Amino acid sequence: MASVSASLESATRGAKSSAALEFLKSAPKKLLINGKWVPSKSGKTFETLNPANEQVLALVAEGDKADVDEAVKYARKAFEDFKWANLSPHARARFLLKIADLIEQHADELAELETLDNGKPLFESANIDIPGAAETFRYYAGFVTKIYGETNPSDPSMFNYTLREPVGVCGQIIPWNFPLLMASWKIAPALACGNVVILKPAEQTPLTAIRLGELICEAGLPEGVVQIITGFGPGAGSSIAEHPDIDKVAFTGSTEVGKIILKASAGNLKRVSLELGGKSPNIIFPDADMPSAVFGSALGIFLNQGQVCCAGSRVFVQESVYDQFTDSLSQMASTLTLGNPLDPNTRMGPLVSKEQHDRVKGYLKAGKAEGAKAKIGGEPGKQEAGYFIQPTVFTGVNNQMKIAREEIFGPVASAIPFKDETDVVLQGNDTDYGLAAAVWTKDINRALTVARKLKAGTVWINTYGILDPMSPFGGYKQSGFGRELGKYAIDLYTQIKSVWCKIG
Ligand code: NAI
Ligand code: MG
Repeated sequence: MASVSASLESATRGAKSSAALEFLKSAPKKLLINGKWVPSKSGKTFETLNPANEQVLALVAEGDKADVDEAVKYARKAFEDFKWANLSPHARARFLLKIADLIEQHADELAELETLDNGKPLFESANIDIPGAAETFRYYAGFVTKIYGETNPSDPSMFNYTLREPVGVCGQIIPWNFPLLMASWKIAPALACGNVVILKPAEQTPLTAIRLGELICEAGLPEGVVQIITGFGPGAGSSIAEHPDIDKVAFTGSTEVGKIILKASAGNLKRVSLELGGKSPNIIFPDADMPSAVFGSALGIFLNQGQVCCAGSRVFVQESVYDQFTDSLSQMASTLTLGNPLDPNTRMGPLVSKEQHDRVKGYLKAGKAEGAKAKIGGEPGKQEAGYFIQPTVFTGVNNQMKIAREEIFGPVASAIPFKDETDVVLQGNDTDYGLAAAVWTKDINRALTVARKLKAGTVWINTYGILDPMSPFGGYKQSGFGRELGKYAIDLYTQIKSVWCKIG
């Protein structure tokens, strides 16, 4: 403990908001079960680090099977008591609006905590993650009063209608790349539909989910509606996936763990939704508006240090503009300021963890070994401490290389030349993944044709990475199944009951 407080000052060096510091000082952080903050039953804790300087930020309760069992017991009780699902929809909507307001009121603190825990530039957490989280709660608040059933054209001797009812106790396991935003994508639609939830944040970035738990308590939700169990994948996560009394599991993370979760769900046939990895093709035709294509492609691969499931990691460039385009992309990469993510001018922070740093360094090595050339970057950052990687553009890549097939999850663009439209559609779709894709061209006919042919859950035309709570998001192929966001998330969190009544 002493070492934790001693290192807190250096771990948070540069933090401006006293609220974030106060939050960190009140560690060890606990689990939220039935409206109360409790230590893990084992008494175990784990450290969460600042990846920019490798110092300990806080100790956090390490939840395990016993804690998940306890959380499920109270969640089940809250669900069966209909404390939440039977509230007037207007009242339930107001709770979600209140959570959105509280996120906005604490936006500076949340942005700083996110940056400290994850390493992403404050510029991004303040402008993308935190406002996006508030907006997601607000969007689903609007849905609460608009979840309709139907009356069906039955024989006149019968009256048949459908009800959309909540699924029940929902386990939600999220990753570390957009911690608060992913928590919101999961919790907001589940609550809107009247479910109760058990959220497990990633072990690398538990802090903003814990703070969100506090804000949810402050909003006054009935106890037992939201549980937050921090801990590791094997342990807290696997206990959720296997639990016989959890009705649904929603997961965002690696394809590898997605498969484990799907298998574990078979025990009680949980409903499952999976949002997994990607290796998205970002396609540049010679008639594209080049400055926008360069800027958009840089955003597509360097935002959040490339730790984005829909990152445009395979940049397909038509042969005639390949050299010119990769020069410009490298030039843009060279302007990104790498450094302390709390500095508002920083555009690239460290990767989230040593594990991720090692993985990405492994891919840089593999790319070079297979004959790709780093036009820029290709090396770790030169900082004294922290998990930095230089923004990298690999040229001379073909679609069969390891760096073109596997998700790197780092600031590494693999630029692959193509001949023509037919060739790029074939190559673009030649992947196990299908989360997203983009096409840059001024020819609208070509854009729409290619968008139709690409096997991906999202296609961007002349832009990259746009997401909004009103539009569905999810994968084809091994990028998962189920669609989050938009009205589609209502399908994930409701089940349909058909009611028959005999007339006369
Ligand atoms: P991961 O898939 O292991 O972790 C994601 C979440 O799953 C975390 O909350 C983790 O605790 C949990 N988890 C891990 N093992 C579990 C298990 N057996 N049962 C239940 N829950 C479990 O991802 P990791 O190891 O952090 O990253 C590895 C790679 O996965 C990355 O390099 C990247 O390629 C990919 N990834 C993709 C993400 C996406 O947004 N689609 C997000 C994070 C990682
Ligand atoms: Mg893992």
